[in-house]
Amino acid sequence: MKFAISSVLALLTTAALTGAAALPFEARDVYVPPVTYPHAGTVWTVGQRHNVTWDNTNPPKSITNKIGRIMLRKDGFTTPVILQENFSILLGRIEVKVPWVEDGDDYQVVLFGDSGNFSPLFTIKGA
Ligand SMILES: *[C@@H]1O[C@H](CO)[C@@H](O)[C@H](O)[C@H]1NC(C)=O
Ligand SMILES: *[C@@H]1O[C@H](CO)[C@@H](O)[C@H](O)[C@H]1NC(C)=O
Repeated sequence: MKFAISSVLALLTTAALTGAAALPFEARDVYVPPVTYPHAGTVWTVGQRHNVTWDNTNPPKSITNKIGRIMLRKDGFTTPVILQENFSILLGRIEVKVPWVEDGDDYQVVLFGDSGNFSPLFTIKGA
């Protein structure tokens, strides 16, 4: 009996995988809006709150992934720091709290939706 159930599950899984494999052939829009704030010259202080903004004009009708996430990059590498997640990419703006990180003028935020988009380099300094 156990064997029979797992066989059915295996079949269902195979069916699900086949279904997923067919997806790339459908028309899907990759939407990567450019980050407009922070920009070059922006200075954030640890503990402050700021609205990260992105250009939200003309989003396509069908977006593969509407759920956004913002992460912090430093020195060209994306850090594990998540500034905000689980918001609609269609908002065009989301408030974040500047995390407790070392001073630097080589920070960027990455806005993830379908793909990632980096802000220009900006500065974070301690309180
Ligand atoms: C972010 O934008 C919202 C909506 O306009 C506003 O209520 C909020 O005060 C802003 N936050 C900051 C830190 O400016
Ligand atoms: C994401 O947001 C939706 C809608 O606000 C909520 O139902 C869901 O539980 C959230 N998920 C996570 C992982 O926070």
